[in-house]
Amino acid sequence: MSNKMWGGRFAAGPDAVMEAINASIDFDRRLWMQDIAGSKAHAAMLAETGILTAEDVAAITHGLDTIASEIESGSFNFSTALEDIHMNVEARLAELIGPAAGRLHTGRSRNDQVATDFRLYVRDALDRLDAALAGLQGALAEKALKHHDAVMPGFTHLQAAQPVTFGHHLLAYVEMTARDRGRITDARKRLNESPLGAAALAGTSFPIDREMTAKALGFDRPTANSLDSVADRDFVLETLSAMSIMAVHLSRFAEEIVIWSSAQFGFVHLSDAWTTGSSIMPQKRNPDAAELVRAKTGRVFGATIGLMTVMKGLPLAYSKDMQEDKEPFFDALDAAELMVAAMTGMVSDMEPNRETMQAAAGAGYSTATDLADWLVRALDLPFREAHHVTGRIVDLAAQSGRDLDDLALEEMQAIEPKITAEIFAVLGVDNSVKSRVSYGGTAPANVKAQAEAWLARLKA
Ligand code: ARG
Repeated sequence: MSNKMWGGRFAAGPDAVMEAINASIDFDRRLWMQDIAGSKAHAAMLAETGILTAEDVAAITHGLDTIASEIESGSFNFSTALEDIHMNVEARLAELIGPAAGRLHTGRSRNDQVATDFRLYVRDALDRLDAALAGLQGALAEKALKHHDAVMPGFTHLQAAQPVTFGHHLLAYVEMTARDRGRITDARKRLNESPLGAAALAGTSFPIDREMTAKALGFDRPTANSLDSVADRDFVLETLSAMSIMAVHLSRFAEEIVIWSSAQFGFVHLSDAWTTGSSIMPQKRNPDAAELVRAKTGRVFGATIGLMTVMKGLPLAYSKDMQEDKEPFFDALDAAELMVAAMTGMVSDMEPNRETMQAAAGAGYSTATDLADWLVRALDLPFREAHHVTGRIVDLAAQSGRDLDDLALEEMQAIEPKITAEIFAVLGVDNSVKSRVSYGGTAPANVKAQAEAWLARLKA
């Protein structure tokens, strides 16, 4: 049997493989709500402009509402032969209300229809993701406030560099997440134009009102060029790009959780709710959720590069290639939402082991910079010379397997005679972090103020 939507010049139906490669209903059914909302807005406009009669549009609207409740309740029968969500809905509408259903598609094409549906879907996704990221920021800022003065090693090259506070480290991710949210806001702004009424590619001869449908669907305005309207998937690419950078951030944090919760580091403890055991090794508490956040980053990147590749080189306007925009997006979105939820859960759950972190913060001569700075401040040595003197003192401590504050004053004076006992005040890690009062620095007072400011901002 030929297709009843477009089968006028077709005598026979498609080959089974043709149907399999062509159908998108298995994944684009996720757009059902947006598809029905778009159709209702289009129908209302067709009535308002006198293109359709009020009676026809009342029947169409009522039928669309019935379909929405059928899909919602699970009683709707999706058909692969009907290819996609648009034709599934329209065919059911014809069953429900008869010939008036055939008038809904006046002045519209599936090309502008799918572009509209998908924009609406991605817009909702951006809003959800933004809210979830705000939740993550809240969890981070709460934990940062609680541990604004917990000293831990700050790393460069994953080598202990200088002591920082745990709160400061967590707030770094609040800043990264703020930029992720900024990208989401930007993407949403550019996305929010309505392609509905661009029709197949050239616009339509019917006196449609695109401002009206744009407004009804919450868009800021209609898109300005009908060819671009049906050919554009920037809104998907931008969202995937924003999600990719977000995933970079989450994967870095996930990796740190994996490292921190290892027995060798022992910086943080995750409860039973956020770890798994091993079927053979009873001692294990594995940070699976963090590992999977790290791994799911691959899906998000994959979707991004995949759709870039689909879109590159496509001539205007619509090509069926573009149907391949949805599956990877849905997959990446599902992954991204799980990733944010898992990170938020782990952040709230994790308890730092303050003593272990404090001890680690002092290891590896992490206050050597404080020593050098003191030589500059108290003795007026040029920094380069102070660096050299400090190097010799560190070497002395290392040779005898001691920490810097275990050295005797006389030993240090043998290297630089002007050194006084005041130097011991800067050799401990607590004093080190307390001294980092420059704006954005790790001093506990700074960290507390920043955490409080974030919590206030997030509440507002
Ligand atoms: N299922 C299609 C898609 O997702 C809808 C648009 C089809 N348009 C067409 N001219 N065949 O892109």
